[in-house]
Amino acid sequence: MAGILSAPAGDLPLFQSYKLPNGIEYEQPLGLFINNEFVVGKEGNAFEVTSPSTGKVIGRVHEGAVPDVDLAVDAAYRAFHEGPWSKLAPNERGILMNKLADKFEENHLLLASIETYDNGKAIQLAKGDIAACISVLRYYAGWADKIHGKVIDTGRDTFAYTKQEPIGVVGQIIPWNFPLLMLAWKIGPALAAGNTIVLKSAEQTPLGALVVAKLIKEAGFPPGVINIISGYGRVAGDAISRHMKIKKVAFTGSTMVGRQIMKAAAESNLKKVTLELGGKSPNIVFDDVDVDKVVEWLNFGIYYNSGEVCTAGSRIYVQETIYDKLLEALRKRAAQNIVGDPFDENTFQGAQVSKVQYERILNYIEIGKKEGAKVEVGGEAHGTQGYFIKPTILSGVTSDMRVVQEEIFGPVAVIAKFKDIDEVIALGNGTSYGLAAAVHTKNLNTAIETANRLAAGTVWVNSYNQYHPALPFGGYGESGIGRELGKEALKNYTQIKTVNILLQ
Ligand code: NAI
Ligand code: MG
Repeated sequence: MAGILSAPAGDLPLFQSYKLPNGIEYEQPLGLFINNEFVVGKEGNAFEVTSPSTGKVIGRVHEGAVPDVDLAVDAAYRAFHEGPWSKLAPNERGILMNKLADKFEENHLLLASIETYDNGKAIQLAKGDIAACISVLRYYAGWADKIHGKVIDTGRDTFAYTKQEPIGVVGQIIPWNFPLLMLAWKIGPALAAGNTIVLKSAEQTPLGALVVAKLIKEAGFPPGVINIISGYGRVAGDAISRHMKIKKVAFTGSTMVGRQIMKAAAESNLKKVTLELGGKSPNIVFDDVDVDKVVEWLNFGIYYNSGEVCTAGSRIYVQETIYDKLLEALRKRAAQNIVGDPFDENTFQGAQVSKVQYERILNYIEIGKKEGAKVEVGGEAHGTQGYFIKPTILSGVTSDMRVVQEEIFGPVAVIAKFKDIDEVIALGNGTSYGLAAAVHTKNLNTAIETANRLAAGTVWVNSYNQYHPALPFGGYGESGIGRELGKEALKNYTQIKTVNILLQ
């Protein structure tokens, strides 16, 4: 598999000067980040990093395996139980988190550029990712000294209270579609609550997290609080999921791997599991809308981040009375998206993350055609190098088709018509997923009734892909377990202790 090939590290250094396509020069750490130091992997291996916009190998990073996860867990365990972190007052945790957010601000363009280089996403979107990282870190920094239990009245003879305590060492396994944003979503609530962390980045996109590791140290986090491992899922990810000293694991990625992680947790120490998984989200349009406005949201809903978004509005349902008009407008709009060089400030849609994903998406388009779908626009690769795919719409689809049921995770939407609210609710709820949905209408009653009846963790009304650090996010059905963001996410990283005192 090009770009993630494991091999002996040889003389691969711990740091290397990198020059990015937009001229930015910096020092890229290549080691594993354990106990605040960059180190080589115990098994002496490294794997390749590819730039999706050229398909070329751009470097290698040291690979973490089982013994490295063990070392990282030991460091995190010590930090939680004995180190300075364990003695910090909650507000001091918040101060450190804000310092890390400052570091993200100081390095905004660098971090965005690394994301673009490593993931292939358009730089305009990568900048937005970093801004979102900063918001999330600051949001959770604010929570650090506001997590508390309750005094519960159990009568005159007792005094009882609860405490909301951190869990300990937590494992976090993140994907490649938003490498740094997923890191921020994960470490934010975990740190605010006082846990220590072993995080594994995705093997497709290890670079940004290692630069953040450097910033974590500069911000003043004590050793062992945050450890970052570059490595493969089936090796380092599995070691995290099975580790006896890791008391909680949080994962974002495919539903298939989510099942494996739950199984590994069950087979080891019953660590607490939260999962943020796939989706096949319906984007529903009633016939009272302003077509020009709604087309913008449909376009953004599916093509944002090259369609590599768990909430992608990949099933578009349009009320039959405006179907033809809307499809025509959307075809035109999709074809106008600027696809190509992700470092060009005007580009909206960059490259797909890897050859594997690129081929998977093109294969889905072929499956759709074989199933009888019609390609309205796109339907093929864009350009001759790198992993670009044209914004694509498939029409003539029915609910039993694979392209309607399965997550494609690329710039491919299916579109179909519906008669009334009952029909579109049945269509909308007709997959095993339930991550997100949207409804577009000017009628408040229609909006609320649709939102109430859709089985989805998030419902947008008259917009799409709008996140906020304070708003809980997560899935119904096979889209996951638990909620990230907001106050809700603190539940994932704390446990309640009840103290019940008999008065004498
Ligand atoms: P994946 O689920 O394999 O990768 C996500 C993370 O899980 C990576 O860090 C990977 O190293 C890790 N991982 C893989 N196997 C593991 C295991 N056995 N134990 C522990 N960790 C493991 O996703 P992949 O294969 O890269 O993409 C496949 C599909 O998954 C995509 O086409 C998309 O449909 C979905 N996906 C969904 C994401 C989301 O945001 N919900 C993000 C990435 C992928
Ligand atoms: Mg995989």
